[in-house]
Amino acid sequence: MSDVYEASADARSSAFLRSLSEYQALYERSLQDPQELWGELAKQFHWQTPSTGPFMQSNLNPALGRVSVTCMAGATTNVCYNLLDHNISENRLGDKVAIYWEGNCLGDSRKLTYQQLLNDTCRMSNVLTNQGVKKGDRVAVYMPMIPELVITLLACSRIGAVHSVVFAGFSADSLAERIMDAQCCLLVTADGFFRGEKMINLKQIADDALDRCREREKGSKGFSEPKCIVVRHLGVAPGGPGVPNRPYTPAKRPCPNLQTPWQDGRDLWWHEVMHKAHEEAPPVWCDSEDPLFILYTSGSTGKPKGMVHTQAGYLLHTAVSHRLVFDLRPSDVYWCTADIGWITGHSYLVYGPLANGATCLLFEGIPTYPEVDRFWQIIDKYQVTLFYTAPTAIRSLMKHGNEPVLRHSRHSLRVLGSVGEPINPEAWHWYHRVIGGGRCPIVDTYWQTETGGFLLAPMPFATPLKPGSATFPFFGVVPAILNEHGEEMKGEAEGYLVFKQAWPGMARTIYGDHRRYEETYFQKFPGFYFTGDGCRRDSDGYYWVTGRVDDLLNMSGHLLSTAEVEAALGAHPAVVEAATVSCPHSLKGQTLYCFVTLQAGHTFSRTLVAELRQKGKIMRRILRKIASGDPDFGDVTTLADPCVPSALFADRCRTT
Ligand code: PRX
Repeated sequence: MSDVYEASADARSSAFLRSLSEYQALYERSLQDPQELWGELAKQFHWQTPSTGPFMQSNLNPALGRVSVTCMAGATTNVCYNLLDHNISENRLGDKVAIYWEGNCLGDSRKLTYQQLLNDTCRMSNVLTNQGVKKGDRVAVYMPMIPELVITLLACSRIGAVHSVVFAGFSADSLAERIMDAQCCLLVTADGFFRGEKMINLKQIADDALDRCREREKGSKGFSEPKCIVVRHLGVAPGGPGVPNRPYTPAKRPCPNLQTPWQDGRDLWWHEVMHKAHEEAPPVWCDSEDPLFILYTSGSTGKPKGMVHTQAGYLLHTAVSHRLVFDLRPSDVYWCTADIGWITGHSYLVYGPLANGATCLLFEGIPTYPEVDRFWQIIDKYQVTLFYTAPTAIRSLMKHGNEPVLRHSRHSLRVLGSVGEPINPEAWHWYHRVIGGGRCPIVDTYWQTETGGFLLAPMPFATPLKPGSATFPFFGVVPAILNEHGEEMKGEAEGYLVFKQAWPGMARTIYGDHRRYEETYFQKFPGFYFTGDGCRRDSDGYYWVTGRVDDLLNMSGHLLSTAEVEAALGAHPAVVEAATVSCPHSLKGQTLYCFVTLQAGHTFSRTLVAELRQKGKIMRRILRKIASGDPDFGDVTTLADPCVPSALFADRCRTT
């Protein structure tokens, strides 16, 4: 059996949820009377007009009509108002730090209180309005991790405009494609930024993108070139230091020689337009189902899908899940290392935490600059209590050994989080033992760009943890595992992960292509939301997401998770990280192709390759037995999860 970790009685005593049975009782309540539970939770926020219908209404079956989801129909609100004005007036958080900003270079930092964030956001709302942006208009955002990025998102929300953030690492082509798909009327960007030692001339890329938009849309009616607002981040500060309340974030390492291409009439400096704008802006009240933002995620056809998230349900889902899954306290300092260009940054760096009045850390740099201890140094500097990152970051830091971590105390840490992929047991244990000093629960959160917020996640002090499992569903979320025929499998099972009913934060459509939304998520299993992931449920009811279904191998009629093979390879002491893909094979149908990164000090050799093959062979040996109906698996102790062969075998017996 896999290891199980439980919080100490002391740690539990002050948590929101203290035992598995408390979680289970609340979960039952969330299904039996969603109206009652969510209605209670919604009281945390300001509703300009109350909801007039049931808490949620949905149709997830295309055969019964248009797929649709609504939450709190009839209610009106403003998300930005809730995050800022409401927290300041109702919860007296005006002087509380909303954002600690830590720049790429050591010593480069800034902080904004909730009141300062509101002032700058109102100015930016007026800037947008002055540029003709109205409720429902789309604004493209292509920025480094600086406070102006958060200010831009909140300003859009304040006036009911729909932001579409494009990750600042994306190319001019990707940016152009997204600007055109959503017909954005304005682009907000920056002159440039450093990632470690590397300088990125962001405005040059943005200009290339705008050129591409112009070329492609030449002659087509209705397209007008977006205006462009540019934060001066790397250029020399206008007016020099000491300008009071300078509403932009200059970098410590300016680049006086940076060439910033400029087009008069189209381009505007952030500091100039902000300086002229008023510091007060009334919120525009939005319908609960008005769009809040679009965020693109890759699609199997190659064309990215612009997932549309809306107001009320998204606000509730991100806020409540952030509060409970991180066991948030008023004094916490919360750090999510994800870039705001991804959904994790949207939901759990901006919307959820600020809705909860949390103090958040925004980091511009990378974990290895100037040295590989940067994360741990930052944790001590700000006394971070809640830390949320991805397994890939953990693995890349693990390869440098324990010494860079142990240089710092990390004593402030209370809860650790993981997101984005299954966390392999080696990385989990290192994260738990070395980073968290064995004291901090790890919340493994399973969700997607499409889901808006967590779907599977533990309650840190209530749920016994199993390394690599995202444990149980969040409140109001109903998972199921289906076989290829769409039949629900009960008890221990492995198959397709679907969700049986709508939840507040789910994306409502793909921008401009509702049909594609229906086809991608609801066609394969009508009536269910299909995640595209494979999943196993163990005998204790824990969910183990095994990875994208398109990354699964089908050997002898059984799904085999590449994540499992990766975990087996990762268990070898020479391996830091392994990636496995399937590859067509003339005899077996499919075979495995494995890529591995080695620990410092190890080199590739024939012996090592033979050892790694052996790990794979162990699995193939077992799989051959399963396929031929032989239950004598021999030694399974070297597997990441020795229960897998019996589960697969039981499944075989059921299906053949
Ligand atoms: O395969 C799952 C994996 O990431 C996919 C979603 O990717 P994206 O939309 O980019 O959002 C990532 C951040 C939420 C899922 O379909 N995934 C995400 N979290 C986990 C995970 N797989 C296993 N365990 C997780 N905790």
